[in-house]
Amino acid sequence: MTFALRINGQTRPVDAPPDQPLLWVLREQLGLKGSKYGCGIGACGACTVHVDGQAVRACVTPVGAVGQASITTIEGLAGKASLHPVQQAWIEEDVAQCGYCQAGQIMAVVSLLAETPSPSDDEIDARLTNLCRCGTYTRIRAAIRRAAE
Ligand code: FES
Repeated sequence: MTFALRINGQTRPVDAPPDQPLLWVLREQLGLKGSKYGCGIGACGACTVHVDGQAVRACVTPVGAVGQASITTIEGLAGKASLHPVQQAWIEEDVAQCGYCQAGQIMAVVSLLAETPSPSDDEIDARLTNLCRCGTYTRIRAAIRRAAE
């Protein structure tokens, strides 16, 4: 089945079964490899992208369910001339360790801050459920604080 995905400001045709996870379409058909495969069951968040501004886990989102919604991946987050403020805060707080989960973390944080511009620690803990095997959570929280300033 052919879909016209609205992604990162462009319309991109893709040919895939409707139940194929969006993550595979992004990575294998569109070459957008910033979104990572971690668990494949919606548990880790490495594959987090935005669909109409909402953070979703692309490994459990069928491509056929996206319709005409606007998809944003980490590749489409920055502006033409500058990084997104959350990306900038990530650099300034030197968040990444191995880096594998970080695109998903950033996408989840951008969505969190859009809904809750100055989240409490409890709100961060409750809503930011992406996993980091390197344990960069303290630096992630610092970057959230910096981006929220
Ligand atoms: Fe999608 Fe883990 S790979 S949540």
